[in-house]
Amino acid sequence: MGDAGREGCSNQSEGAVIASLSLGALTDLDDDALRALYEPPRTPWLRVNFVSTLDGASQGSDGLSKGINNAADKRVFDILRSRADCLIVGAGTLRAEGYDVPPLPLVVVSRSGELPEGLMHASAGRVTMATVAHAPHLARSRSLLGPDGVIVLGEETVDLVALKSVLAERGWVDQLCEGGPALFGSMLQAGIVDELCLTTVPRLVAGTAIRIAGGVDVDVRLRPEVLLEEDGTLLGRWLVN
Ligand SMILES: NC(=O)c1ccc[n+]([C@@H]2O[C@H](COP(=O)([O-])OP(=O)(O)OC[C@H]3O[C@@H](n4cnc5c(N)ncnc54)[C@H](OP(=O)(O)O)[C@@H]3O)[C@@H](O)[C@H]2O)c1
Repeated sequence: MGDAGREGCSNQSEGAVIASLSLGALTDLDDDALRALYEPPRTPWLRVNFVSTLDGASQGSDGLSKGINNAADKRVFDILRSRADCLIVGAGTLRAEGYDVPPLPLVVVSRSGELPEGLMHASAGRVTMATVAHAPHLARSRSLLGPDGVIVLGEETVDLVALKSVLAERGWVDQLCEGGPALFGSMLQAGIVDELCLTTVPRLVAGTAIRIAGGVDVDVRLRPEVLLEEDGTLLGRWLVN
C-alpha cells in the first residue's frame, strides 16, 4: 500500500462505509503521524486493543498473545499506551501474561479482588483495583493498595458503566483496555466500548485458542476508521457505531 494515512478511498462501489477510511503503509508514518491517526474524537473515550491471527486466535500455542504478536503490532501497541491516561486490564490477562507495572496508571478489573502477583509491590497510586463489595480478597487488596487504590463498583458484578465514569472523574479520559477476552465481552455488553484497535497477523493456528471477545452474546457494529499494513500484518482502527 502507498499513500500512507491518505483520507478516503477511491473505490466508489464500497460506498459510505469507508468514505473517511485512512489507508496506508505503517512504515510511511513517523510516530507523530501515527499518534495523530489515533486521536479520540471526544472524551471520555474507551479504546480496546487486541492482536489476532487470521483464524481468530487471540493466543499462540503458548496460550499467550506474545505467541502471535510481532513488531508492527508492538509499534501501535506502544503508541496507544503513550497517549492513554490509564490502562485497564482484566485480572486473568495480568496473571497469564505476567504484566509488570506499566508507566501509566493501571486499573485491574477483578471480581475476586485478588491482586495479580506481579503488582503486589507497586508504589502508591500506580495500580487501582476495580472490584465488588463481596470480593473475597477485598481486604487484602485494600491493605496492599491503600483505600484510594481500590474502587468498589457493585455488590457481585463490577459496574463497568460506572467504572468508565469514575476513571474519567479522576481525569483519565483517554482510556485504553488491553483485554482480555472475558473483560472485553462484558464491556461490549455494557455498551462502554468506543473503539477497537485490532492487529491481524497473517498466520493460521487452528487449535483451541480463544477469540478476542468471549462470554456473553452481543451484536455490536463497527466501522473502519484506519487500516494500516506492514508485511501482511493489518492494523485496524474500528469505531463503534
Ligand atoms: N491477543 C490479545 O491481544 C490478548 C489480549 C489480552 C489477553 N489475551 C489472552 O487472553 C487470555 C486471558 O483471557 P481471559 O478472558 O481470562 O482474560 P481477562 O478478561 O483478562 O480475565 C478474566 C478475569 O478477569 C477478571 N474479569 C474479567 N472481566 C470481568 C468483569 N466484567 N468483572 C469483574 N472481573 C472481571 C476476573 O478476574 P478474577 O478471577 O480475579 O475475578 C476474571 O476471572 C490469556 O491467554 C491472554 O494471553 C490476549
